[in-house]
Amino acid sequence: MTMYLDEIDTPALILDLDRMEFNIKRMAAFAKECGVSLRPHVKTHKSPEIAKMQLAAGSSGVCLQKVSEVEVFAGAGINDIFLTNEVVVPEKIERMARVAEMIHLGVAVDDIDVVKKTGKIFKDAGTKLDVYVDVDNGMGRCGVQAKNAAEVAKEVSRHDNLVLKGIMGYEGNVNGAKTKEEQLRLSNVAMDKIVIAKKGVERAGMRVDVVSVGCSVSTWINAKHPATTEVQPGMYALNDHVLVKRGVATMQECALTVVATVMSKPARNRAMVDAGSKAFNFDTGLFPIPLDRKGVVMEHFSEEHGWLHLTGTGTSTKIGDRIRFVPAHCCTAVNQHNEMVAIRGDKMDRLIPVLARGKML
Ligand SMILES: Cc1ncc(COP(=O)(O)O)c(C=O)c1O
Repeated sequence: MTMYLDEIDTPALILDLDRMEFNIKRMAAFAKECGVSLRPHVKTHKSPEIAKMQLAAGSSGVCLQKVSEVEVFAGAGINDIFLTNEVVVPEKIERMARVAEMIHLGVAVDDIDVVKKTGKIFKDAGTKLDVYVDVDNGMGRCGVQAKNAAEVAKEVSRHDNLVLKGIMGYEGNVNGAKTKEEQLRLSNVAMDKIVIAKKGVERAGMRVDVVSVGCSVSTWINAKHPATTEVQPGMYALNDHVLVKRGVATMQECALTVVATVMSKPARNRAMVDAGSKAFNFDTGLFPIPLDRKGVVMEHFSEEHGWLHLTGTGTSTKIGDRIRFVPAHCCTAVNQHNEMVAIRGDKMDRLIPVLARGKML
């Protein structure tokens, strides 16, 4: 029986398949045009089903951030995963070794002792692991300083069960750059650091086959850099309000919305909807934006309530109205929900489980 968007109980996470497929194809075409591999970060949607759509569109594999996410995706049949994060606790490294028996796995490293520990655990397990030296290329999060990349790479090359693939850098600070000039400047800074790291590793006699970089904003710039071989953006598949503000997506390209119902109209200029911080998350400190609604602004949250300020034609908003909102940050909004309601046009197509929801170990 067909179910229409208007009949879906609220609050619900809605995924517009046409929009997402457009976003997936566009990035795949761009990567191809630039001659680089696209390895999307699928922590964005935490859904193996969507990852398979990205692989079918030409992605070389996927990126994830947590061992528990990797376990879910590997179990669901995704067989080439790069864990773009540092894994330092022996118990977790052992879990990686078990996954590596089933699939092709890679990990990021930024510490010599962790490399030694990882090399020993993989030797004992008799499995192989691809290793990428993580370089801090501007975000100031994890990663070695570019000039020290060779020391870590050298240690990797001493271990039979570790395969030195290359280097990675995540210049996520570019997502915060408000102007195109600043985006370009920070993207260039990121690649300068990557080139220093790459030359250092090569001068020390090792090969750098893969240079993996790129957030959803910088990928549009850094995929064109001659040193880049792979890009790893995540949010491009869904898009969100912040990416619209950064000029890399339009509201029409935002595939993810939360649909809510107006549940109270206490004043002419105020209405309440049944979706608050638990339906959207609020990690950016920015409120979601109503889709196709003039004179309606979300201005405050509590857990189960969203406050709408109404002006002009927006004051005609009434109890029972359904409004779709584009979240400020798609990744953390997805993680609030067990499933996405996938739609085509105004009809529900299917439910897509957020299978790795809440997986953070
Ligand atoms: C290491 C790494 N790579 C790639 C991504 C994806 O980038 P974005 O979320 O900007 O699309 C992230 C996101 O946080 C990340 O941490």
